Amino acid sequence: MTTRAWFPTLIHHDWLQRNGLAAFNRELLRECHQLREHDHAGRRWSKKNYPGGYTSYGSLDKLHKFSSTFMELERKLARHALRFARALDLDLTNRQLLMTDCWVNLMPRGTAHSLHLHPLATISGTYYIRTPRGCAGLKFEDPRLSKFMAAPPRRAECREENRNHITYPAVAGKVTLFESWLRHEVAANPTDQERVSVSFNFNWF
Ligand code: NI
Repeated sequence: MTTRAWFPTLIHHDWLQRNGLAAFNRELLRECHQLREHDHAGRRWSKKNYPGGYTSYGSLDKLHKFSSTFMELERKLARHALRFARALDLDLTNRQLLMTDCWVNLMPRGTAHSLHLHPLATISGTYYIRTPRGCAGLKFEDPRLSKFMAAPPRRAECREENRNHITYPAVAGKVTLFESWLRHEVAANPTDQERVSVSFNFNWF
């Protein structure tokens, strides 16, 4: 082969588990709505920083420490994070990959999450609880984009791996993992139903 690809950007996308997703998501959704109801500080924070929606990012970002349901989610996600770390060939000898943050995001019509990354973390991701048909996916940006400078644009019909962006659909029951430095965003929810997800960080210790 004369031309090969190097320095890949890996994204993990899989079902959280094979069975029992509907019941587990029902319980998670119930707790998400409870959180929104009781978390006054979070609602205040969201009003300012997450217009139209509710996120516990600014108030309750360690849900896996307080709720047995989110603790169970942590255990399930940790298995995916380890698989992903193996795919990345991360050397975690005598180290541990631990969930450090876990928060919920409730996005009614019009709520969006602009381009960002997750500082001070190793692996980040999202798990989907409720994804109305037509809701926005998770859009990733080529991490080299700022280096392209005067490069010609890609052809419209270019190969998938050569595109500057890739959008992973939001599917209830699926988990998406990425390295925390990879910038991503969620476009405004165009549907009348709420899009509900959990975001989280893993770090190495
Ligand atoms: Ni994010």
